[in-house]
Amino acid sequence: MEEELRHHHAPTVNIHGEDEDDDPPVLSSHALAALQEFLSEQNQSPAPQTAEEEAEEDVALVSEDWRLSQFWYDRETAETVANEVLSLCVASGSPRRVACIACPTLYAYLKKIDPSVAAQLLEYDQRFGQYGSDFTFYDYNQPEELPVDLKHAFEIVVADPPYLSKECLEKVAQTISLLASPKDCSLLLLTGEVQRDRAAELLGLWPCVFRPQHTSKLGNEFRLFTNYDPGLRLGGWEPEK
Ligand SMILES: C[S@@+](CC[C@H](N)C(=O)[O-])C[C@H]1O[C@@H](n2cnc3c(N)ncnc32)[C@H](O)[C@@H]1O
Repeated sequence: MEEELRHHHAPTVNIHGEDEDDDPPVLSSHALAALQEFLSEQNQSPAPQTAEEEAEEDVALVSEDWRLSQFWYDRETAETVANEVLSLCVASGSPRRVACIACPTLYAYLKKIDPSVAAQLLEYDQRFGQYGSDFTFYDYNQPEELPVDLKHAFEIVVADPPYLSKECLEKVAQTISLLASPKDCSLLLLTGEVQRDRAAELLGLWPCVFRPQHTSKLGNEFRLFTNYDPGLRLGGWEPEK
């Protein structure tokens, strides 16, 4: 087409590169049509992404550091839990704040699916400082060391403690009760099946049928416990035996 856009009779050019031909340039009808097509293509913005194309994009996460007991959820798990949290936000009809304790993948997926969600990540790994004021440094060994403005400020709290010990769950439970809104708070705990009885005693949680999965194969069986009946979501609560 470049060829077509030139004058259809060869112009003469002086030493300054100026066209010495005084006649206005004339385009053939074929060249004109090609030019119009070219210009209209230039004016078109790229086609918007479909929801499916957007969902295809993976969330970029930092690499796992196993010394910090970091095992990231696989995409299906991260999306399932994020959608559950977002459906709790929608169901309430009023704005809800979400605390993500030691579950950075969930934070990242929440923000990807709904950038407007008010989510706070409490994490030990300083690399997540990349999330700016949404990041709060948190060490479960100091369960009550929390900024004042976060205390009793969350209607949804999700936690994935780094260890499967009694001590770790007890300390994280202390943090959860300090973060939870006293009026109403939905709790989601992702941890090993081995914590089932403690999760019930400390926080009144029950396991869902849905099984969290990780990008690396883990030896332990993982569960998602909630303090509310999820209905048909998350496969429902596991029936009592
Ligand atoms: C089992 S992983 C849970 C991550 C989750 N599966 C995800 O994909 O987002 C435990 C998390 O605890 C964090 N962690 C490690 N040591 C911690 C500490 N002393 N206090 C609080 N969090 C800690 C790790 O950085 C990691 O993100």
